[in-house]
Amino acid sequence: MRDSQINVDRERLRVAPSLELAVTWRREVRAGIERIWENVFDWEHLPVLHEMYFNAVEQIEIGDWGWRVALTKNPGTPDRSMVLEMRADREKARYRVQTLSGDGAGTEIWTLLTPLAPHRTAVEVRYYLPERRPERLAALADKYRASCARLWNEDEAMMMRREEMMTRASAERRRSEKPVPLGPSAGLRRRLPLLVEYEGEPFRIVEGEDGSLLAHATICPHWLGPLDEAAPQNGILRCPWHGYRFDMRSGESADGRGYRLAPARALRSTGHRRSEPRPLRPADIRQQHGQQAEQRQESADLIDVIDARRVGEPAERRCPDPGHPER
Ligand code: FES
Ligand SMILES: [Fe+2]
Repeated sequence: MRDSQINVDRERLRVAPSLELAVTWRREVRAGIERIWENVFDWEHLPVLHEMYFNAVEQIEIGDWGWRVALTKNPGTPDRSMVLEMRADREKARYRVQTLSGDGAGTEIWTLLTPLAPHRTAVEVRYYLPERRPERLAALADKYRASCARLWNEDEAMMMRREEMMTRASAERRRSEKPVPLGPSAGLRRRLPLLVEYEGEPFRIVEGEDGSLLAHATICPHWLGPLDEAAPQNGILRCPWHGYRFDMRSGESADGRGYRLAPARALRSTGHRRSEPRPLRPADIRQQHGQQAEQRQESADLIDVIDARRVGEPAERRCPDPGHPER
């Protein structure tokens, strides 16, 4: 870690004198500092990506200086609600999250960042708590060490995936309209959910509510989140990063937040046989009746392509300017 951050003591940070340092936690994160700032300003992911710790969040104020939110811990009862404020000092590559009211009021969590490489940043997190009893401080230190590790693991995974998706979005795409061979429908259904690429875009093939097969877009139009990890519920996909919801068939927003997913594609059967069913052999005759029926069915029902026709209207993908999260 560079000297610029390692020697920053609490006097320079102006930590309240009444607070005790409980934990200093360090690690390297596989993300560049711009991705980290984006993540720090992104308060909205707290109860979704980190649902193990948080239940709900509401914005009170936001600006270039940072944000103030009302955050409820999990399990979410009113007494578990607190007001948090994040103040960023980009020039000095550090930020403070302070508990203004509620559980742990007065706590200051300082995070000091040191860029190491385009996709690597050293992170140091310090917890200053309004607590003087040594045994209580030690117990809290253990708790915060564990939660800090988990929170940064989850954030790191999100930042890395977002970096990958942004690189992919800006790269020249090879837009092939060639059919995607998917094989017989019975075999295809056994392989669901199935990820495929068509016209340079990723899709996931799933069974719709009515039993028909469809290929839905897997990139969330909000911040490029991974919808291929979302389990469809009643035809709705919920993004695992900020919880925005979309109708998986039409792509319409299911929560009124104004974003729209690319509409799903239909699957089309070529309607021809890959090969004529071969004559039955003695071994086939010993098979169960159901197996024979499936074999015949697979030969006759061949699905070759994702249809070029979209199920709904084309969607426009909106992605906020990195560093200026759209809120
Ligand atoms: S990336 Fe934010 S809701 Fe999907
Ligand atoms: Fe986070």
